[in-house]
Amino acid sequence: TWTAANIAEALIADIREQVGDEGLAICGLSGGVDSAVAAALVQRAIGDRLTCVFVDHGLLRAGEREQVQTDFVAATGARLVTVDAEDVFLGHLDGVSDPETKRKIIGREFIRSFEGAVSEVLGDQAAAGKKVDFLVQGTLYPDVVESGGGSGTANIKSHHNVGGLPEDLEFKLVEPLRLLFKDEVRAVGRELGLPEEIVARQPFPGPGLAIRIVGSVTKDRLELLRKADLIAREELTSAGLDGQIWQCPVVLLADVRSVGVQGDGRTYGHPIVLRPVSSEDAMTADWTRVPYEVLETISTRITNEVPDVNRVVLDVTSKPPGTIEWE
Ligand code: XMP
Repeated sequence: TWTAANIAEALIADIREQVGDEGLAICGLSGGVDSAVAAALVQRAIGDRLTCVFVDHGLLRAGEREQVQTDFVAATGARLVTVDAEDVFLGHLDGVSDPETKRKIIGREFIRSFEGAVSEVLGDQAAAGKKVDFLVQGTLYPDVVESGGGSGTANIKSHHNVGGLPEDLEFKLVEPLRLLFKDEVRAVGRELGLPEEIVARQPFPGPGLAIRIVGSVTKDRLELLRKADLIAREELTSAGLDGQIWQCPVVLLADVRSVGVQGDGRTYGHPIVLRPVSSEDAMTADWTRVPYEVLETISTRITNEVPDVNRVVLDVTSKPPGTIEWE
């Protein structure tokens, strides 16, 4: 029978078998539920032979880095190495506006960052010829299917941790959640004692804000989107809507401009799209009927507080035909 306890136990046994008695592993933490649960399972299986690596790629939302550093470490006591890679990621993304190219670059650079973190992870053990052979990822069943890994499915988008991996990958992958859906992952996470701040968190994609800027990614655009995203999150949370919303991507249409009037002058600014969705497993989704008053507050605040944005629009498309993220 399916219980979270049974599943957790079986997954831990599988990980022990795959990694063996000596193997060392690193786990890329994204701040999301999936990688946190994957890391917690592997930690149960192999203890401190696991080191978690958090890559700050400069594509995170406000407060995310601090949250990983405090919440996750407090809950698990796992060893955490943080890699500062903003300049590297933004350098490679410079001038790139094609969604799949962005995704492939980010997938590749994540792996390069993990490889770079290995010497720090190994410390003195490197001299003794030790290697890190295993990379733990929080890949879920829907990630595999939508990246074209399931049978008979087309590639919809390359999830950074599946279709975005480089071909010369030196690690063996440990992906304990590969056959699970998000609600099952949350149940396993609770079983392992992870706190609600982690387990109940709304999904946020590994490629981060880069796939929420339609157009090329720059520091200024990221800064602007971060402000708009924070406003939307604050208002949805204070309206008590978090339980009803699966996630709410906030998207900057950087390649689009429209005419507006603000103060006593003409503006020629960018639209922000709100994409609140309700879903069970992200394979399908419906747009969430957020009350008009809440939308009004978000719109007023974003156009007042975020420079260069003069319009807020609501995405009222279900999935299918739209995907949840715009890229
Ligand atoms: P789509 O846009 O395909 O998104 O409807 C489905 C779910 O997956 C998340 N997503 C990702 N998560 N790496 C991730 O870790 C990715 O590359 C990625 N792309 C999409 C998305 O936020 C939604 O929850």
